[in-house]
Amino acid sequence: MRLFALALILTIPAFARINFVRDVKPILELRCVRCHGPDIALKNLRLNRRDRAMLVIVPKKPGDSRLYLAVTSGFMPPGDKKLTAAEIEILRKWIAEGARWPKNVELSPKNPFLPN
Ligand code: HEC
Repeated sequence: MRLFALALILTIPAFARINFVRDVKPILELRCVRCHGPDIALKNLRLNRRDRAMLVIVPKKPGDSRLYLAVTSGFMPPGDKKLTAAEIEILRKWIAEGARWPKNVELSPKNPFLPN
């Protein structure tokens, strides 16, 4: 547990603000956008575009955001490989900080099994 907490602290220094392109985009592209994106939009949910993603995000309120609830409950992504605690914390912090998503940034699906 202590090691885990340490890993979390090293990954996200408490003072650092989340940067969407650096921190959040890779998580969504690797783990979500292949099912919720431009080609396939399961549940009609597209997480590749800001306007569509905000249907399941309430900026500053992770606890009211369906995206956050889906990952903390383990509902999403489906299957055995859930997000790590550090990834979930990045999403929480990003939403808590206002879920800033720079204009014109669109995400595309990435295959998690291939190197970047
Ligand atoms: C393998 C495909 C797949 C992946 C990957 C996936 N999802 Fe889903 N998602 C689904 C399906 C299918 C549903 C509908 C499930 C249901 O209603 O039983 C769904 C539903 C959801 C919902 C509920 C939509 C609503 O209307 O409330 C949210 C939120 C969601 N996904 C977020 C995510 C997030 C965030 C990720 C990445 C961490 C992710 N999903 C990854 C297939 C996927």
